[in-house]
Amino acid sequence: MSASGTSKRLTPSRITAMKGGTPIVCLTAYTTPMARLLDAHCDLLLVGDSLGMVLYGMETTTAVTLDMMVAHGKAVMRGVEKACVVVDMPFGTYQESKEVAFRNAVRILQETGCDAVKLEGGEEMVETIAFLTARGIPVLGHIGLMPQLVHTAGGYRSVGHKEHETSKIRRDAHAIGGSGAFAVVVEGTVEPLAREVTSAIHIPTIGIGASSACDGQILVSDDMLGLFNDFTPRFVKRYDELGKRAAAAAEEYAKDVRSRAFPAVEHTFKRRT
Ligand code: KIV
Repeated sequence: MSASGTSKRLTPSRITAMKGGTPIVCLTAYTTPMARLLDAHCDLLLVGDSLGMVLYGMETTTAVTLDMMVAHGKAVMRGVEKACVVVDMPFGTYQESKEVAFRNAVRILQETGCDAVKLEGGEEMVETIAFLTARGIPVLGHIGLMPQLVHTAGGYRSVGHKEHETSKIRRDAHAIGGSGAFAVVVEGTVEPLAREVTSAIHIPTIGIGASSACDGQILVSDDMLGLFNDFTPRFVKRYDELGKRAAAAAEEYAKDVRSRAFPAVEHTFKRRT
């Protein structure tokens, strides 16, 4: 907060106003040091429930809890000065009713100090999003591939190839566009559909695996930084190979410790005289 009591961070309404302009830059962040590194370069940082898979080695995001999201939301907020911070509502914390969603969203906002929450779902979530936004909670929508639905969808795969999928995403985009959400993540779909919905709705679309036709882009930071050495999805561009570099650094450290090359004189305290 500044002395006038207003945050210097980008607000959700400023993100909405970026529709159709310079693409909106978004990345995930889960920790204070990573938030500090990314903040200056991003318009929006998402504390995504992908942290369950990325940080905790879970198979899916469905076991991520509200306590985990609150803890990581607080950590990210300690490292951010400029970007708009959005915290994901985990599976099971908003689908039951709009009242349950409200209570859990309030907890996230109050305990983390973040700017908005994100929840997955199209038409079926419109009433909930309208309820939250009318009561002071900014919401980022999420349509297309919805990772929290992995068990009913039968896996993670891009959507919008078949007519029924195309019309569902079209309906979802229009519904979320009119729900009060300040922007919407569009995940894992084909370029013509992403282009169509981006021009049809008045809020920004933030693409992940949804082509350059969207108003902004988001990636999981750990994917983009190459912190994993395993499979990279087609839509991810690896801007570095930090995983390989970390493994090489650990190998060198191990060699130095075993050969007593580390710690050297310069790393060793001398008795004060
Ligand atoms: O959980 C997450 O990180 C997300 C992004 C990939 C959009 O939802």
